[in-house]
Amino acid sequence: MPSALSYMEPFFVDAALNCSHGIVDRVVYFCVGSNMRMKDLQPLIEKNRSYRRFDFGRKISEDVLVALVDVARISQSAANLQPLCYITICQEEMVTKVHKHMRWAGYLPDWDGPVDEERPVAYIIVLGNTEVKQTYREVDAGLAMQNMCICAAAEGIGSCMIGNLDKKKLEELLKIPKQYEIIYAVALGFPVEEVQMVPFAGDVKYYRNENQKHFVPKRLLKDVLIKRA
Ligand SMILES: Cc1cc2nc3c(=O)[nH]c(=O)nc-3n(C[C@H](O)[C@H](O)[C@H](O)COP(=O)(O)O)c2cc1C
Repeated sequence: MPSALSYMEPFFVDAALNCSHGIVDRVVYFCVGSNMRMKDLQPLIEKNRSYRRFDFGRKISEDVLVALVDVARISQSAANLQPLCYITICQEEMVTKVHKHMRWAGYLPDWDGPVDEERPVAYIIVLGNTEVKQTYREVDAGLAMQNMCICAAAEGIGSCMIGNLDKKKLEELLKIPKQYEIIYAVALGFPVEEVQMVPFAGDVKYYRNENQKHFVPKRLLKDVLIKRA
C-alpha cells in the first residue's frame, strides 16, 4: 500500500496530472501493523507550524501543488458533499499580485508581512462551489488545508493558512466565475524562519524575539484534557 507521503512521488504526480480523476481507484485498506505509527507522524504534526517567511529564490513546481490539491480532494467531507475547489498559483507574476491581498500575523502589528525576498513562492486558493449544498463547509476547508499542509511539511515545505484576505479583489484578479467564492488561501514556500512552540503562560499571542525567531504558545495538555472517564 502506498504511504500518504508517496502521493508526492513523481508517478502519482503524473497520475494526478494526466488522469482526470487523480488519486482514485486505489484500493485503500487499514493495514494493522503498518510501518507508520503515531510516533512517526507526531514529529511531522509538530513541524507543521505556520511559517510566514520563505526563501523566495527556492520555487515549488506546479506538479507539487497539483499533488497537494489531489490530497485535499480526497479529504473527509461532511455528507461527502465535497463543496471545495482550488486554484494553484506558482507563476511569479501572479504570486506577486495575489500576495498583495493577504494579511499577515495580526498579533505582530509592527510587522508588515514578509519582505520581497521572503515572500511565499506559491499559493493554493480554496474556493467554495456555491452550487453545492453548504453544510460544514468551513470544517471541510480546514481538513483539506490541514492535509495539504501536512503533506507539504513532509516535503520540507512550510505553509500558512490565510483567512484574512481581500476576497473581492482576489476574485476579480483571478477572474473567478460567480459560482465559486474564495474561502481561504494557503501560502507555501521553503521556510527561512524558525518557529518554536512554547507552553501557554496566560497569552495566546505569538511573538518574536530580537533574532526574529517566532514563538507560538500552546495550551497545556492538562488544561485541554478536562476529563478522563
Ligand atoms: C483558519 C485559519 C486562518 C488563519 N488565517 C491567518 C491569516 O490570515 N494570517 C496569518 O498570518 N495567519 C493565519 N493563520 C495562522 C494562525 O495564526 C496560526 O495557526 C496560529 O498562530 C498558531 O500557530 P501555528 O499554526 O504555528 O500553530 C490562520 C490559521 C487558521 C487555522
